[in-house]
Amino acid sequence: MGKIFDFFEKDHREIDSLFLDLRFKGLAEYRGIFKEYDRRLERHIVWEETVLFPALAEKNPMFKEGPIRVMLMEHKEIRQEKAAAIQALKKDDLAGAKTREKALAKVLSHHNAKEEQVLYPACDRFLGEKDIESVLSRIGS
Ligand SMILES: [Fe+2]
Ligand SMILES: [Fe+2]
Repeated sequence: MGKIFDFFEKDHREIDSLFLDLRFKGLAEYRGIFKEYDRRLERHIVWEETVLFPALAEKNPMFKEGPIRVMLMEHKEIRQEKAAAIQALKKDDLAGAKTREKALAKVLSHHNAKEEQVLYPACDRFLGEKDIESVLSRIGS
């Protein structure tokens, strides 16, 4: 696949694997892993919202009102579930956090699939080599 797809898909998989690490953990360990999970997921969303999606919207404005708008709405939902899980953890409510975690996993799996099937391939198709390099250098981890 293209460079954008490869980079962002890899980041999805790494974030997913942190998510899987949450299984069967007690409160203290869960809290530590969730903190790192939150940091990585938030960084990923910020890359998309501030660098990748604006670059695509500039090249192909049709994406702005359609797919990008949907992705931004879903990011909002993802952030809400993530924040609710963090709130539950603050109250030492592991069961509550796990309930939110399940809701989060559900939104995220559909969301990531759409990005990988539509958005990232479109970025690789519509952004030129130079723009792709510029995107990747601006987000470089
Ligand atoms: Fe996203
Ligand atoms: Fe993504």
